Amino acid sequence: MSPRSVRHNGPTDMVTPNVAPTDAAPLSSLPAIPSLPIVRGLPWLLSPEGILNRLLALSEEFREVGAFRAPMPDDREPIFVCSIAWATEICDETRFEKVLDGPLVNIRDFAGDGLFTAHSDERNWHLAHRILSPGFSMTSLERYFPAMVSALEALIAHWRAARAPVDVVRDMTRLTLDTISLAGFAHRFDSFASPELHPFLQSLGRALQESVDVLQRPSLFAPLFRARRAQYRRDIDTMFSLVDEVIRERKSQPQDRWPQDFLSLMLSQPDPKTGELLGDENIRYQILTFLVAGHETTSGLLSFALHQLARDRALFARVRAEVDEHFGDRTPTMREVLGLDLVKRTLEETLRLWPTVAAVTRAPKEDTVIAGRYAIRKGQPLGLLVNAVHRDPAAWPEPDRFDPDRFLPEPSKSRPNGAYKPFGIGRRACTGRHFAMIEAMLALATIVREFDFDDPGPLVQAPTVSAKPKGFRLTIRRRA
Ligand code: HEM
Repeated sequence: MSPRSVRHNGPTDMVTPNVAPTDAAPLSSLPAIPSLPIVRGLPWLLSPEGILNRLLALSEEFREVGAFRAPMPDDREPIFVCSIAWATEICDETRFEKVLDGPLVNIRDFAGDGLFTAHSDERNWHLAHRILSPGFSMTSLERYFPAMVSALEALIAHWRAARAPVDVVRDMTRLTLDTISLAGFAHRFDSFASPELHPFLQSLGRALQESVDVLQRPSLFAPLFRARRAQYRRDIDTMFSLVDEVIRERKSQPQDRWPQDFLSLMLSQPDPKTGELLGDENIRYQILTFLVAGHETTSGLLSFALHQLARDRALFARVRAEVDEHFGDRTPTMREVLGLDLVKRTLEETLRLWPTVAAVTRAPKEDTVIAGRYAIRKGQPLGLLVNAVHRDPAAWPEPDRFDPDRFLPEPSKSRPNGAYKPFGIGRRACTGRHFAMIEAMLALATIVREFDFDDPGPLVQAPTVSAKPKGFRLTIRRRA
């Protein structure tokens, strides 16, 4: 398992493809984790904190090379990129683009050709991208802000009434689902009204997990998992039913009474280029995409940030002082929330250490050479381990230390393009990133203003598709 010695010396020492593909080494000469018959690399990939955290740990051994191979039981042999030098190269939009691999291929079972899971050359991606992008302008975000406040009020009321430690991940999940569904589709899940997670969330959680777990099963063992597959199909039906109901409900109202949200945009706005409307099936996929992409990610971010603040008294005090200074007891405006510099940097640093989308996949648009050495074919998927790149000491000194000041303007300027990618890359980057940041800044600021926390102890991560803390219960008190 000894990594081959290709050196990348850091931010300014980026490698250009100056070797002709014929002279270059094949990708099969990249170092790999060990492999056994049938189960292949699985024993080295399994961990109680999930495969993505295991890949992060393995990355330390391969960082000098920049990437490694990981033979999987389903016969694939994905390549994982773990250094800033490689990341910066594959972020180059002229040479590389997003492709679907691993779980995203399976998630297409329920998100179809929605924005997140569409192929980069798929017609509906272009159509939906043009129709939906205006829905994320600052003016549109101002319109969604009251929904963010309203969903947050339910969380605050729930926590004020709490008589036992709160289940942070569960409550952040409820908060972010209620927010995106209210802002995007005027649908109230009212998640805090019931002690159980909404059936939609239960189905979504299981379906997402199955889309990853299935990749770790040798095909030989498939018959043992028939019940899981049947449950997966039922879960998809449950999700489709809810979304179809939301669409039916909207269509049953006179159009002049429709709210200005994503659903109205999708149902009524033609593509500015071709004049076409999105089809019904695609709208179903887009709604599911927004519900999936727009809540798990933000809830994980808030959960990690709260865990950090509960452990770091000094940072907690600084954040609270900033909030008090900006808007005290009042409900803030969106502009006031955007002025919370330390809150924003705390969230940015949280996404560096625990990016909730821990990997994205890219591939070259043409045959090329990567890292000045390896020949790589058009379309060959490369999994960019965002979590590993975010801890590459080449641009992040003392990478495991939490320090929001890394995101002050000066240090941020000198960082290479590939060093920080929590929201993805180029034209396939996250459409909802400003929405997510405003929602998370509002929630974090308000929670810190309202409550004192006890130290929850060390962080343990859950083995889930999108990263989150495991078993994170927090003892909270109304602010003294
Ligand atoms: C902290 C919160 C969030 C994080 C970390 C995050 C992260 C990401 C990442 C990494 C991608 C690119 C995935 C890839 O390349 O395969 C992405 C895409 C996307 N995200 Fe987010 N996201 C967040 C919140 C949201 C929210 C709130 C929404 C919706 C309101 C949203 C909607 C989308 C959509 C639609 C795409 C697909 C974009 C495209 O390919 O056209 N995300 N997100």
